[in-house]
Amino acid sequence: MNGPVDHIPVLRDTVVEMLVREEDGIYLDGTIGLGGHAAAILDCAGPGSRLLGVDLDPSCVATARRRVAAFGERAVVLQGDYTALPALARERHLVPVDGIVLDLGISSWLIESSGRGFSFQKDEPLDMRFDPTQGQRAEDILNLESERHLTRILREYGEEPLAARLARAIVSRRKRSPLRSTMDLRTLVTEIAPRSRVNKTLARVFQSIRIAVNNELGKLRDALPKLVDILRPSGRLAVISFHSLEDRVTKTTFRRLSGECVCPPRLPVCGCHPVRRLRLVTGAVRPDKDEVSANPRARSAVLRVVARMPEANGAGEQTLGGTR
Ligand SMILES: C[S@@+](CC[C@H](N)C(=O)[O-])C[C@H]1O[C@@H](n2cnc3c(N)ncnc32)[C@H](O)[C@@H]1O
Repeated sequence: MNGPVDHIPVLRDTVVEMLVREEDGIYLDGTIGLGGHAAAILDCAGPGSRLLGVDLDPSCVATARRRVAAFGERAVVLQGDYTALPALARERHLVPVDGIVLDLGISSWLIESSGRGFSFQKDEPLDMRFDPTQGQRAEDILNLESERHLTRILREYGEEPLAARLARAIVSRRKRSPLRSTMDLRTLVTEIAPRSRVNKTLARVFQSIRIAVNNELGKLRDALPKLVDILRPSGRLAVISFHSLEDRVTKTTFRRLSGECVCPPRLPVCGCHPVRRLRLVTGAVRPDKDEVSANPRARSAVLRVVARMPEANGAGEQTLGGTR
């Protein structure tokens, strides 16, 4: 399965403008997808620049490789998790890094054509793994997890008001026969949600199961500080989120790493112990009207960019060519 190599990714020009500061810099793309941001970064940066990109999905890796093939040895694309990017970059002597981009979530192309159950509009097996060889599938979670855990997934990741009722219905339905396909899940949701809210409920349920299957928020929380560690002083990290939970994790982590206390106001003393390691380059940047009308999926995108403080510790990790 090969994806299109001409799609324009969300906020492409803004990402490039904010990230590419060094002509011959080292850039990482942790969610290379169809390679749109990666190609734009390589296009804008100088002939001495390099880019390492990873994606969990093998068909995205194949497509991104085709997309950046014209840049020759300047670009390397691997199948992998962005949580492993610091290790992968260190192994290849690509640290410290000048710019990193994470464009979170899933591409519309994967939703449409992966056959892995991301869309409630199609009849497909309930898989939903970005890497189709690793971890629990959606049907494993739906058929094996406790009612309490399912309620939590639907409530926390989907912000779904009917979470408890839906979880009860899943557990009762699976006693008769396990849920195997997106249509099984769709039918169940349709029976419970009020008619006027069926599509919204379906979207929330599918999104929450996908987030749980891929541990999307846990990985983001874990990876952001480690990605900051491999930036060179003044190097930048750009994160594009597509829903409020991802954006909340990104915003809170960035605030904490920029020295702000992010403890709940009710705590009498600070427990988060913020240390100033970066500065905010920009608050939330959203696509303009033209971009949203050309690509309606862009409407929920939010970009945040930070830069590592010049005096931060650990600056100047060794690269093949010496200390940067
Ligand atoms: C919105 S798309 C990225 C599109 C990309 N920026 C482009 O220009 O085509 C998100 C991609 O992130 C990948 N992905 C999601 N979680 C990941 C993770 N933890 N590590 C690596 N890739 C991940 C998905 O497989 C998907 O291809």
